[in-house]
Amino acid sequence: MIELRSVSLTYPNGVRAIDALDLKIGKGEFVFLVGHSGTGKSSLLRLLYREQVPSSGDVCVDGVAVHRMRAGAVPRLRRNVGVVFQDFKLLGGKTVWENVAFALQVTGAKTRDVMRQVPRCLDLVGLSQKSRMFPHELSGGEQQRTAIARALVNNPKILLCDEPTGNLDPSNTTEIMELLQRINTKGTTVVVATHNQAVVDRMRKRVVRLENGRIVGDEERGFYFLGLGQGQVLSG
Ligand SMILES: Nc1ncnc2c1ncn2[C@@H]1O[C@H](COP(=O)(O)OP(=O)(O)O)[C@@H](O)[C@H]1O
Ligand SMILES: [Mg+2]
Repeated sequence: MIELRSVSLTYPNGVRAIDALDLKIGKGEFVFLVGHSGTGKSSLLRLLYREQVPSSGDVCVDGVAVHRMRAGAVPRLRRNVGVVFQDFKLLGGKTVWENVAFALQVTGAKTRDVMRQVPRCLDLVGLSQKSRMFPHELSGGEQQRTAIARALVNNPKILLCDEPTGNLDPSNTTEIMELLQRINTKGTTVVVATHNQAVVDRMRKRVVRLENGRIVGDEERGFYFLGLGQGQVLSG
């Protein structure tokens, strides 16, 4: 579903954010990306939705060579790949319904499809009753659920989340992670970059660990800190 082969990304300022990285993620997986701030988690996600193009190496997403894609083909990729951010990025002047519908309308969807898909997604995230509200009338958790509904409205095969609970309190965090888990159970591949140790340790999913743009750990049912899954405990 996702494959990176010897991928490097150097920004124009000379920072090498991703360094000869290899990674495979299969269909239907749930993967955490962890690592210190500045270690390349967001950059790696940006390569997957072609916000950034690699300086070298191959990035394949759902059978498509993203690194060789023409600009005109990017919208089709973005339909297959939903993205959720820490700061929600909702349109403040639009209601919950309009925020979700807009993501479909820009793809040229027919009104009939909008009328069918928007309620489906709002129902999935539990916001059917708040569809007429504006973002500023919602809690942080509700705003993030709106953003998730928007990311899902095109039925993407992959959902990328960059610190999705970074602005949320613990109870909203739990609610969002349960939602992501449910979305994954329905078949969507989910990749979550996070700093939240409690979330990673509770969910016990695959943990890919980055350091200076390289993968330094990749564990099934991993923990936030390396090696905890192999019978070690943290001292102190
Ligand atoms: N748009 C950018 N231009 C230049 N450097 C960047 C840009 N985005 C990130 N970086 C740098 O790339 C490195 C990796 O950043 P990032 O991918 O945001 O890491 P993380 O998400 O793990 O905190 C950092 O050194 C950061 O300063
Ligand atoms: Mg980041």
